[in-house]
Amino acid sequence: MERRIGIGVVGAGFLAETRARCYAKAGGGLGQVVAVADSIPEKAEEYARKYSIPNFVTDFRKLLDMDEIDMVDLCVPNHLHRPMTEAAAAAGKHIVCTKPLTAYVGQDLPKDVDESEISAQGRRHMLSVVVEDAEAMVAAAEAAGVKLMYGENWIFSPSIAKAALLAGEASGTIVEMRGGECHSGSHSPFSKIWKYTGGGALLRLGAHPIGSMIYLKKLEGLARNGKPIRPVSVSAEVGDLSRIPSVQAESDEWFARGWKDVENWGSALLTFEDGSRGVVWASDTMLGGMESKLEVFMSNARIICNLSPNNLIQAYAPDAGVFAGEYLMEKLETKAGWSTPMPDEDWTSGHQPMCEEFVRAVAMDQPSPSDGHLGLEVVRAVYSAYVSAAEGCRIDL
Ligand SMILES: NC(=O)c1ccc[n+]([C@@H]2O[C@H](COP(=O)([O-])OP(=O)(O)OC[C@H]3O[C@@H](n4cnc5c(N)ncnc54)[C@H](O)[C@@H]3O)[C@@H](O)[C@H]2O)c1
Repeated sequence: MERRIGIGVVGAGFLAETRARCYAKAGGGLGQVVAVADSIPEKAEEYARKYSIPNFVTDFRKLLDMDEIDMVDLCVPNHLHRPMTEAAAAAGKHIVCTKPLTAYVGQDLPKDVDESEISAQGRRHMLSVVVEDAEAMVAAAEAAGVKLMYGENWIFSPSIAKAALLAGEASGTIVEMRGGECHSGSHSPFSKIWKYTGGGALLRLGAHPIGSMIYLKKLEGLARNGKPIRPVSVSAEVGDLSRIPSVQAESDEWFARGWKDVENWGSALLTFEDGSRGVVWASDTMLGGMESKLEVFMSNARIICNLSPNNLIQAYAPDAGVFAGEYLMEKLETKAGWSTPMPDEDWTSGHQPMCEEFVRAVAMDQPSPSDGHLGLEVVRAVYSAYVSAAEGCRIDL
């Protein structure tokens, strides 16, 4: 029986803006954001005012006391994902946790440790901490009988959702996938410091193609013999391309600088248990606007998913001022020349269909395709990739 789902958004920053728009558009009113929590009171209040949300608080735990809230959507920094998931589960609330499900940000070190010590921790140690975190989150939700939904928007994007249907219909073998997310650098200064993000481009951006590849091979395995086809090993390289000497000697007008101790470029090669491969790239060093794409090579088909850019619209302006007041696409450096404006990024990126799916999963008490187990597999793959990059060898998952 469908009923209206009350949502509490936690964090009123960048991601929460997307969530407010998407929940408002999603699901024909099946869900409604009824409260927001942000530790900065002005941000909570401004967000509530902007999106006509009836309640705003600074303490996230107040949301857990509200009977009208069925699920919380955690749009907060990575170190809060586990404790907030555990608290929400204990309070009987369903949970949406954004990517990454968790990250190594020195959560096992003394609070006053120098930030350089956090990124200096061994990658194998980081891997064991994030896997323990993610397993604890999955276990907390299962023990409480609530859903832990993992905010991997890519798999809900119209292009990857259709690719999944096409691959299912083709019923051949996915032999290779190539996918990546690249742009010219995160909006957030915190993204340049391991202490705040738990990694660089491979974690922040590579999580999307990695999650999508694991998801598509899972569907293939389930359709063929009732068992997911899982990734079994990874090898990777990471680096800071802004440290290339000739780049350092150039002006910094376009190329993002200041990466303290995280990579701004990474590439990983996943091997699945059937021998198929996934080639992943992730970069904060690419000009020309947001690029998110996934290519699927099958034994009997080939599918290309262009989340961004795509050619729904192509536009030309002889001068950047012509389209000055109109949004074109994320991270585009200039509005001059040819561009591919995105008419509805929330839809093409999968954020809106994802919010709709999460609300429906709670309302209909059905499993979500993007759950805590997928989030766990992704952090295992990413931190194993960091081990591989540090040790220069292939790592078994
Ligand atoms: N495509 C995606 O899925 C996607 C995109 C962007 C960000 N993210 C993820 O979203 C999360 C947040 O990133 P962001 O870019 O929105 O960051 P942000 O800094 O813009 O917003 C985070 C907000 O959380 C608030 N906050 C901090 N501690 C809090 C607490 N204890 N209680 C309540 N509020 C608190 C901050 O005041 C801030 O407003 C990160 O995990 C990031 O990886 C996911």
